[in-house]
Amino acid sequence: MNKNVSMAVIRRLPKYYRYLTELLEKDITRISSQELSKLTGFTASQIRQDLNNFGGFGQQGYGYNVEELQIEVGKILGLNRIYKTVLVGAGNLGQAIADYRGFEEAGFKLLALFDKNPKLIGLQIRGIEIKDVDYLEDFIVENGVEIGIICTPKEGSQEVADMLSRSGIKGIWNFAPADLRVPEEIIVENVHLNESLFTLSYLLKQQTEK
Ligand code: NAI
Repeated sequence: MNKNVSMAVIRRLPKYYRYLTELLEKDITRISSQELSKLTGFTASQIRQDLNNFGGFGQQGYGYNVEELQIEVGKILGLNRIYKTVLVGAGNLGQAIADYRGFEEAGFKLLALFDKNPKLIGLQIRGIEIKDVDYLEDFIVENGVEIGIICTPKEGSQEVADMLSRSGIKGIWNFAPADLRVPEEIIVENVHLNESLFTLSYLLKQQTEK
């Protein structure tokens, strides 16, 4: 596999993966780059270029074998394995994320939730227990957890990131509106829904000003 794949390509891969999975579910066995282009909104040449980064999966005049490509893109994304995760901040957002089965189905196994609110400790979401955040570090070490999901308010999020970093976490999925400082070997992926909402607002504004 080509290790120097650009981040722009990597950001498009989940979309390919999603559509390929949907095609498989509909028992569609092959697809052309033109058809993939219609589905994804990327140009056919962009798709061919993207997928060529990982070896030629397509054949002239045949298109792509959907199953083969879905498996390969899944492998490229590292989705052919299970990741152990924990979630910190079991409030509204944290509970909603924990309640969603889709992440687990994609291989992200949630082992426990953590919170500092005594009223929440001991409760379960989908059978997964909310534990006292004081036990977070020990739990991560004992269970070999690789991903920490932060759903605390901004205040406290850096403290949680420090705890995760100290206990050897590899990646952080951060929902708190904060730019976390972590050692460089730890990968942070931020999700800020309101940035996306503000982009929508901007585009709506552009349209009404036309
Ligand atoms: P919430 O108040 O319902 O939940 C926050 C939870 O974090 C509470 O249960 C609280 O006890 C816990 N907590 C606070 N400090 C903690 C600490 N140091 N250790 C362990 N647990 C701690 O709030 P909500 O609505 O769930 O929002 C949570 C965060 O997510 C906020 O920062 C909010 O801004 C953010 N948010 C982010 C979105 C995004 O797109 N990234 C979308 C919606 C909310």
